[in-house]
Amino acid sequence: MTTTKTNLLEVRGNSAVEILINDHKTIKKLLSDLTKDTDAKSLTRTMEDLKAILTVHNATEENLVYPAIRTIGRKKAESSHLYHETAEADVLVFQLDTMLKEGGDSDTFREKAIALRDAVLEHIEDEETSAFPHLQEKAEPDQDATLTQAVREFRGSFRFEAAPAAR
Ligand SMILES: [Fe+2]
Repeated sequence: MTTTKTNLLEVRGNSAVEILINDHKTIKKLLSDLTKDTDAKSLTRTMEDLKAILTVHNATEENLVYPAIRTIGRKKAESSHLYHETAEADVLVFQLDTMLKEGGDSDTFREKAIALRDAVLEHIEDEETSAFPHLQEKAEPDQDATLTQAVREFRGSFRFEAAPAAR
């Protein structure tokens, strides 16, 4: 995949929900690559792309969308559940990243990559089939516009630079 961090994190869509669903497509592709790539170099690259988009996507949801699901959508339990699922996925990402950096066993890596893929796919499914439609149904047009604008501003504030080389 010949993406750069800049187009990977590009905001695409006319509403908050559309933007997030477009992120999901990118995330799904990277998760699929992570379970299929075999050489360390492509795995590392996929992992770096995945960490970058998850950092931005999850922060967007955790700072704006889950609070909106709770406040506008009045779904406290569903909002908490989504935060919890994100935190669980973060643990798997951390473990995979550590394995990659320390040169862990490739079968164990693949097993964990599959666990991450399945967990994130289930989380995306929860969002797209339940939480997002509910939010869209409950939000007044002005609330929807405010949320979309907030998502655009939030996303515009992220800049990624290459990490300095290890010494
Ligand atoms: Fe999401």
